[in-house]
Amino acid sequence: MKLFAVVSVGLSLLSIINATPLDLTKRRFGQEHTKLADKTYQAMKDAVKGTKFEEVTGNLSGEAVRALLAKAPTCEQQDVADKCVDIAHQLGKEVSKDREKKLICVCQTYRKLERNTPKAGQPSKLCDRPPRNKELKGLVQAQDPTGPKTHSTKKSHPTTTKSKTHPTTKKSHPTTTKSKTHPTPPPENTDNEAFKHPVGGVQMPLIIKLVHGGPDGDFQVLNSKFQQKDTAHNRQCDVQHNLCFNKFNAGDRSFQGSDCDNQNNVCKAGPPVFAK
Ligand SMILES: *[C@@H]1O[C@H](CO)[C@@H](O)[C@H](O)[C@H]1NC(C)=O
Repeated sequence: MKLFAVVSVGLSLLSIINATPLDLTKRRFGQEHTKLADKTYQAMKDAVKGTKFEEVTGNLSGEAVRALLAKAPTCEQQDVADKCVDIAHQLGKEVSKDREKKLICVCQTYRKLERNTPKAGQPSKLCDRPPRNKELKGLVQAQDPTGPKTHSTKKSHPTTTKSKTHPTTKKSHPTTTKSKTHPTPPPENTDNEAFKHPVGGVQMPLIIKLVHGGPDGDFQVLNSKFQQKDTAHNRQCDVQHNLCFNKFNAGDRSFQGSDCDNQNNVCKAGPPVFAK
């Protein structure tokens, strides 16, 4: 899946320090449109076709386009996604639960779209407040996988981290799935220092426990599903690590790159953090 690719490429690039020189003069995508974004706007409208929500959703899809522009306020994408979920809830009450579910899926996809930034490779800021709707909890936008990841002075050895923590087993072992379809739901545990006091305020994506995650597993982090809680835990820590470096490389010097590394260890040593 495309978003999975974006995230995983971003993660694996962590290990390729000093990779390619970046063209900082142009944006990653010329404007707010990518194929996935366009599909998402259309899906939003399709989800309410034939209902009284067509107009409000049509308007929202316009807002959705603007919210991905580089100059849009930081939380605009999340706010649009929240409005999208609001509409979905209305749709559920007045039309059908099935259509509500479909639209919520689209809202979630929209929330995870990459946002434009003024320069290629520049990370987009994360919204610093939680979404209103629980369906959006823990979701953040994807980041430009061509972005700079770290300075060459970085001391640690992410290659060793990567081999351990970056699961490439997404589609694997459907045979083992049966026994794992209904694990006891883990309690929400936020007692992880990396969650409670994130370096630079850069929060980790939360693990969403799915009831029927399908063969890919019941533990979801952003757009990836995992069969094992621990693998999902590692992923949430690695995404935070990546975003932490993005912020550092964007010029934030309120912390050091090594703080991101240390936090990554703390994160993995602590408990996984679940969305409610
Ligand atoms: C949609 O936008 C138009 C133009 O701004 C506005 O007149 C209309 O009231 C909006 N419709 C809804 C349902 O929000």
